[in-house]
Amino acid sequence: MRERRFENIILIGFMGTGKSSVGHALADRLGWSYADTDAEIERVSQQTIPSIFAEQGEIAFRTIESKVLVKVLSGGRQVIATGGGAVLAAANQVCMLSNGWVVRLTADAETIIARVTKDPQRPLLAGNVSERVYRLLQDRAHAYDFADQMIQTDALTIDEIVEQIVERFSSLN
Ligand code: S3P
Repeated sequence: MRERRFENIILIGFMGTGKSSVGHALADRLGWSYADTDAEIERVSQQTIPSIFAEQGEIAFRTIESKVLVKVLSGGRQVIATGGGAVLAAANQVCMLSNGWVVRLTADAETIIARVTKDPQRPLLAGNVSERVYRLLQDRAHAYDFADQMIQTDALTIDEIVEQIVERFSSLN
């Protein structure tokens, strides 16, 4: 592991755990910029995520995702929301840990299902959403374990989540 450099705060977690909402609020609170790897993937490839999956496949998507992550993480004073599968490549985990404080957001399966059902833009959840969520949660059971901080979000407001992160983060610097 390279030396830790807490110049960014990186939010990881399964789809529907609130990374984008918390990320925006946390960036506002800190006066930092907000970056979203999914949005950046769509910007650099000039394609939506569903069409990247449909036309190029998941492996191509993961390659773009890793490149985007390296690029975004080279900056500082950013809150970065990552896609739920950005943790799957070990190299991405190392890159995150080398360039920021990594916060994992979690939520119960039922909360996740309720949230993702409202937003059907996720190719990996096509078909029976709740079956797909349970299956992927199982497949990824330990994929998020490398995080520095974990927050179970179900019973918390966005502001409470932001405060927990700010509190831990300020004690580091
Ligand atoms: C994915 C999560 C999505 C997006 C893509 C794949 C995943 O991001 O990157 O659909 O593999 O979990 P969100 O976690 O922001 O939904």
